[in-house]
Amino acid sequence: MISFILNNKKHTTGLPPGAVALDLLREEAGLTGTREGCREGDCGACTVLLGTLLLQGIEYRAVNSCILPVGELHGRHLVTIEGINPEEGLSPLQKVFVEEGASQCGFCTPGIIMSLTGYLLGTVDPDDTEAADSLAGNICRCTGYVSISKSARTVSGITGRSPAECCTSREHLEWLVEKEILPPNFLGIEEMLTALNADGSEADVSGETVTVAGGTDLFAVEAENLRNTDLKFLSRETGMNGITVLENRILIGAGATVRDIIDSGVFRNAGNLEQSLQLVASPGVRNRATVGGNIVNASPVGDLTIIFLALDAKLRISSGSDYREVQLKDFFRGYKLFDLSPGELLESLVYKKPDSTTFINFEKIAMRQHLDIASVNTAAAFRVCGGRIEKADISAGGVAPVPLYLERTSAALRGMKISTDTAQLAVRTARSEVSPIDDVRGSAEYKELLLGKLVAAHFAELFPGQINAGELL
Ligand SMILES: Cc1cc2nc3c(=O)[nH]c(=O)nc-3n(C[C@H](O)[C@H](O)[C@H](O)COP(=O)(O)OP(=O)(O)OC[C@H]3O[C@@H](n4cnc5c(N)ncnc54)[C@H](O)[C@@H]3O)c2cc1C
Ligand code: FES
Ligand code: FES
Repeated sequence: MISFILNNKKHTTGLPPGAVALDLLREEAGLTGTREGCREGDCGACTVLLGTLLLQGIEYRAVNSCILPVGELHGRHLVTIEGINPEEGLSPLQKVFVEEGASQCGFCTPGIIMSLTGYLLGTVDPDDTEAADSLAGNICRCTGYVSISKSARTVSGITGRSPAECCTSREHLEWLVEKEILPPNFLGIEEMLTALNADGSEADVSGETVTVAGGTDLFAVEAENLRNTDLKFLSRETGMNGITVLENRILIGAGATVRDIIDSGVFRNAGNLEQSLQLVASPGVRNRATVGGNIVNASPVGDLTIIFLALDAKLRISSGSDYREVQLKDFFRGYKLFDLSPGELLESLVYKKPDSTTFINFEKIAMRQHLDIASVNTAAAFRVCGGRIEKADISAGGVAPVPLYLERTSAALRGMKISTDTAQLAVRTARSEVSPIDDVRGSAEYKELLLGKLVAAHFAELFPGQINAGELL
């Protein structure tokens, strides 16, 4: 049986671990404030908060309940819109949406309020622009986004700055309760979770057949098939989500999420990588989407895979009793084919910590800015000494059956002076090295041309003083 705290009460369910939380909420618990829209992680109508008990307190994240398997709920706190409603009247967030006319039919509003609450739970210093950005995964079909965004931009005025030093501490929760963003029962949840986790009853979710990390690929695509499948939840494997900065290397556990990478700061001094992660899906998906899932999913346009290819990452693969290492660029064998045997897990990856001589850039073009996978994406890392490229690593997505390391382009740039001619050489070589196909994201010709423009953009962004962008682009 799977037991968790649902809003302010313990809930035990006999649903299979592969059922999705959205169905549990609406059909078993009768909590219909959580709305069902796309069931693919795309619209945000089903947004809830998932609280995990950590050493420093409970960490809450806004997630999409339509792609959240019930097996992930065991021992955690699941919060729906009903769980943050005040006993009487409206909360300050809800009031502002009414006053600004930011809710017309109201279908999307619970999801929006949950995303904003998730944002406030994760920050001690709310920022109005960030608050509006936290709604990137919430689609509204009738009100229009001006009044929604305007409402979101009032949060710092409503709350001020949290006195808590750490965003998961009790002081932070007390602050949100004081500001009436959360009801007072939130202050008793840590004790309830501690008791729940201490009672020793392990959920019956210890399958083997399909490995689930964040589930954002698996459950967006085949939730129905997975409902009664035997699932192995990686969140129950210890040590899979750590991010460690070693002396000259960075080690990232396969279970680390996009949000974990942003929060860890490891991409902070690596060109535009940290801000580029904001282009991966939406906050709700980023809160669960893992590095390992991005790589093993083997999508030719996986953003993290493309970034780690340019960082020349090495994978550590475990078979339980033993492990082996393989370069990420050698991992892919063909469309959705890769070097992982049954029973093996991708455990972590490691890459050299970039220093001040390394220049890194990521470019992505998708059909819309947020919530979309790339039509073409590419990353580049150049180690530069005395105006010459000592080492180049360039990757490209959406232009081959696999996420591609551009072997010939990277090799051609070694030893070259940084100049417009060198950038043009990179563009020509990259375009000759790929074999895109026509699909819904564009024709083969368009994608090859686009890759050329994006490779040129790496040079224009990284070396503006040495490149004549007008000539190049
Ligand atoms: C709305 C939406 C938007 C998205 N937008 C983007 C985007 O902009 N960019 C992007 O790159 N992706 C995007 N994705 C895809 C997805 O979120 C990412 O690929 C994500 O990183 C997958 O990770 P996960 O942990 O959810 O994988 P899961 O769904 O849990 O797993 C994916 C596959 O990997 C296997 N697997 C996972 N971890 C391991 C491991 N450690 N060892 C062995 N096998 C493993 C699973 O068995 C499964 O086959 C989007 C998805 C959605 C639903
Ligand atoms: S129902 Fe659309 S994201 Fe869940
Ligand atoms: S208010 Fe109708 S969908 Fe947003």
